[in-house]
Amino acid sequence: MVKINKKEYDLMKKYIEDQCGIFLEDGKEYLIESRLSDLVEEIDCKSFADFHQKAKMDIGGKLKDRIIDAMTTNETLWFRDDSLWEYLREVAVPALLDIAASKGKARVWSAAASTGQEAYSLLMLIDEEAKRRGTPSLVNRIEIFASDISSSALFVAISGNYTSLAVKRGLPLDKKNKYFTQKDNVWSFDQELKKRVKFEKFNLQNSFTSLGAFDLILCRYVIIYFSREFKKTLFAKMARALNPKGVYILGASESLWDLSDDFEVVHYKNAVINVKK
Ligand SMILES: C[S@@+](CC[C@H](N)C(=O)[O-])C[C@H]1O[C@@H](n2cnc3c(N)ncnc32)[C@H](O)[C@@H]1O
Repeated sequence: MVKINKKEYDLMKKYIEDQCGIFLEDGKEYLIESRLSDLVEEIDCKSFADFHQKAKMDIGGKLKDRIIDAMTTNETLWFRDDSLWEYLREVAVPALLDIAASKGKARVWSAAASTGQEAYSLLMLIDEEAKRRGTPSLVNRIEIFASDISSSALFVAISGNYTSLAVKRGLPLDKKNKYFTQKDNVWSFDQELKKRVKFEKFNLQNSFTSLGAFDLILCRYVIIYFSREFKKTLFAKMARALNPKGVYILGASESLWDLSDDFEVVHYKNAVINVKK
């Protein structure tokens, strides 16, 4: 393992926060060492100072991408947090289909989509509800935009292919049988339905203006990695990216408290929902 000293840690910490907003507190040297040492050695750097220099000179962005891939935590699963998915199934999905039926389309953003489980989980619910209503084609009027900063996570998301282990994590058996086909150790999400999700690499530090307006934004288990200042800016941008009465969902351990006045906090059973004022 390549060791990092205090000066190098400060340089790397700033570099990482500048590139993706991930804020490392003091004393997290081990995190950089454990996640980046292999890469430091692979590109023949003698020290983290050397590595930082190379990263700063990286014009094509390949090294930057690999650093971001190594530093992001892509942990996710299907239908993560039961109470939220109860709300989505019982309230949000029917509301999205109503909007799609009346306005011609509804838009959703899975804003830290990782390997795609969140976006595909939602798509399965939308498909089931559209069929239950006797309007299966309504699913085509719901746009799901799913983004992440990690190229390796997006690669899996776009492929729609998951290992046996990944499909064991939260995916109910009936949905696995209905929406996936298996070949050896790989489970592939329905090829046709998959086209309803548009995956794109996107850094939440960027401006949202080109993305258009959404009716529902899921941005879960990512703000935990950001500084207070970045969270404030992000919440303000999220509010602007929502249609009136649009819904903004965070992870169960995350909150807007003390950081945004743009939302009304509503409870549905055990789920916490933020509705744009
Ligand atoms: C822990 S995962 C959460 C996945 C999913 N939202 C869930 O709740 O299961 C956090 C994701 O946020 C992404 N991420 C971190 N910083 C980001 C940024 N600045 N812009 C976009 N995505 C980012 C990471 O790459 C990672 O895939």
